[in-house]
Amino acid sequence: MSYDGIAQTVSDRYARAAATGEQICCPTGYNFDDLRTFIPDEVLKISYGCGTPAGLETVRIGETVLDIGSGGGIDCFEASRRVGPTGRVIGIDMTDTMLDIARRHAPVVAANLGYETSNVEFRKGMAESMPVEDDSADLIISNCVINLAPDKRKVFHEMNRVLRPGGRFTISDIVSDQPVPQYFVHDTEKWGNCLSGALRVSDYVGGMVEAGFLGIHQVKFTQWQVIDGIHFLSITLTGYKLPEAMEHNNGLFATLLGPFSRATDESGQSYRRGIPQPVHGRTAHLLSALPYQSLFLVSETPVTLEPSDPRWLAILPEQKPCVWKGDYALFTGPFTEVEDDDDHLYQRGIPLEICSKTLKVLETDAYRPHFAMINRATAEISGTQVACSPSGGCC
Ligand SMILES: C[S@@+](CC[C@H](N)C(=O)[O-])C[C@H]1O[C@@H](n2cnc3c(N)ncnc32)[C@H](O)[C@@H]1O
Repeated sequence: MSYDGIAQTVSDRYARAAATGEQICCPTGYNFDDLRTFIPDEVLKISYGCGTPAGLETVRIGETVLDIGSGGGIDCFEASRRVGPTGRVIGIDMTDTMLDIARRHAPVVAANLGYETSNVEFRKGMAESMPVEDDSADLIISNCVINLAPDKRKVFHEMNRVLRPGGRFTISDIVSDQPVPQYFVHDTEKWGNCLSGALRVSDYVGGMVEAGFLGIHQVKFTQWQVIDGIHFLSITLTGYKLPEAMEHNNGLFATLLGPFSRATDESGQSYRRGIPQPVHGRTAHLLSALPYQSLFLVSETPVTLEPSDPRWLAILPEQKPCVWKGDYALFTGPFTEVEDDDDHLYQRGIPLEICSKTLKVLETDAYRPHFAMINRATAEISGTQVACSPSGGCC
């Protein structure tokens, strides 16, 4: 299928769904009782997202928020409430039926929020060539759209163009644990159902890094469905566009606290737990943002930590046998790769098979936010115990 053919197929699918109020797509996590207090039902019933990118405390008062693939407008209206009357929201969509519904309800939502006029504008356009000025958005959100775009590389570059330096994105989308096969890619129905265009996490995040974003990490993930052994997940990711000129603040140091024993960031800089590393002002700025700020100590003088220091965070596996049960750990950032205290190397977006002992480590509060867990076993597991060495290493 050609790029234009895919876009037309997807647009027709969503125009049809919006016109009939058909229920499609994925788990979101909205509090519909709350949204119903100011968003009309006609909008809520055509919510086709797979997350809540505007409802995760990401939106700040007074900001300019851009929603890519705004559909009936649900996330634009939630963002409208959160930015307040001094803020602004722009929704982009390629489908006229969606735009008509969203535009018709904008004044109703504004009145329900007590605003004099609506602070939301809906523009017709493609995610691959957005009708938006350079460096103009504080925050980009998008909900279950980029998987539908045939040229994701272009979308990521467009995101980087329109986001202001210092801005960020929070994107919910469908991704997969392995490449989607050609019999999915060339299936018209599956494009509209958010399956054919799903990228592996490593490719999705790789595209964002290639477009210039940094600090990409998971905010939330939900298992969605398994088809022909392929796990489709709904994931919400955040990342940053850093200002270029921040090198003046050199002479800073960053010490990794843990739980990782080693981590490599997107610029190739490697950190060992407890060892201070000189960093540029730009990196120090990034390491002071979420989720790095709880992982690092940023200081003006080098600070070395000993294992006895209360800030040193290590989570050791239990000294007992392992059982392999089909579990895989999918590291989702904010680093390109990390190591744990049992010498496992996790590369972002690449599932690594782990045993029960490692699963327990990764389910602790310190590790959990950085991983999506999947289980690929399809039948009963006999659960043979594997002996570990006295130092704990076995898998
Ligand atoms: C799954 S719906 C999600 C709509 C909305 N974000 C929500 O959460 O309800 C996908 C929307 O993205 C739009 N869309 C898909 N691909 C697009 C593209 N390449 N450029 C612009 N809009 C696109 C469709 O028209 C549709 O309204």
